Amino acid sequence: MTSLPAVALLGVGAMGGSILQGLLESQVDIRGGIRISDQWSQRVTGLSRHPNVVGYDGSIDPAANRRAVEGAGIVIVAVKPHQLRDLLVEIADSLDEGTTLVSIAAGVPTSLMEEHLPSHVAVVRVMPNSPARVRSGVTGIAAGSRAGERDLDRARTLFEAVGEVLVVAEDRIDALTSISGSGPAYVFHFIERFTEAARARGFSDDEARLLVEGTVRGAVDLLTATGETPAALRVQVTSPGGTTQAALEVLDAADLGATLDAATLSAVVRAGELAAG
Ligand SMILES: NC(=O)c1ccc[n+]([C@@H]2O[C@H](COP(=O)([O-])OP(=O)(O)OC[C@H]3O[C@@H](n4cnc5c(N)ncnc54)[C@H](OP(=O)(O)O)[C@@H]3O)[C@@H](O)[C@H]2O)c1
Repeated sequence: MTSLPAVALLGVGAMGGSILQGLLESQVDIRGGIRISDQWSQRVTGLSRHPNVVGYDGSIDPAANRRAVEGAGIVIVAVKPHQLRDLLVEIADSLDEGTTLVSIAAGVPTSLMEEHLPSHVAVVRVMPNSPARVRSGVTGIAAGSRAGERDLDRARTLFEAVGEVLVVAEDRIDALTSISGSGPAYVFHFIERFTEAARARGFSDDEARLLVEGTVRGAVDLLTATGETPAALRVQVTSPGGTTQAALEVLDAADLGATLDAATLSAVVRAGELAAG
């Protein structure tokens, strides 16, 4: 069983809540337990019912974040990017020497976070994605200038509790975001359009949903279970001159590859624009 020092999780909204759930369901032994802090009383009360979780309610205790991080070896900041700077300034003096600060805030570089933190605190920037909610996430992890192997290992252990992890250099985070960060939305978009096509072929809403979602789920399960390449599995179901080939020819003519290339590139360009303000 992997073990970690006490973890403070600041912000338990959509992503913070998913990380907490994943950690509680995982085999990770968190010595010192998990402290959570948020401005929403209901979230703190609900989530701190677990015996391993201590809640600090920012709506009634102005020192909630500082109290949560005192003595924690790992601090995860899971607030919106525009809320991050003030939060770091607020907790900076309460962080122990050797703390690993893990930020999930999209678009905020480690250099900017390091500016607001003492030099004895290491920063790791991570980019999770929404399937972390069901422990099927893909998370990119990048080290800041003061982070060493121990800090990366800590972040890896945390996010392996909610799925798969890839460690990259920080200058690859925008590219990674364009694939795995935004990727679930591309897949949902595909499923929406595919479901419309099923309706156009005469199926009811429920039937279309069953057919499309079952097919997508089954295809991914088959890919995982067989370990074969998508290309090999595609060829297996595409008889020359058959129905599947007729449909694939239409998809090829629309150049799905070029569209995805342009879409992901557009996401990378937009990340650069957002960072530049
Ligand atoms: N959701 C995703 O799929 C996803 C994927 C990748 C990265 N992220 C990143 O994850 C971060 C959080 O996103 P989210 O969707 O989880 O947001 P969210 O649902 O709004 O959760 C953030 C929580 O933090 C609370 N909070 C704000 N300021 C705080 C403070 N100073 N101290 C304590 N708690 C505070 C918020 O309360 P209030 O509502 O009162 O502000 C809210 O409950 C963002 O930076 C985002 O870029 C999210």
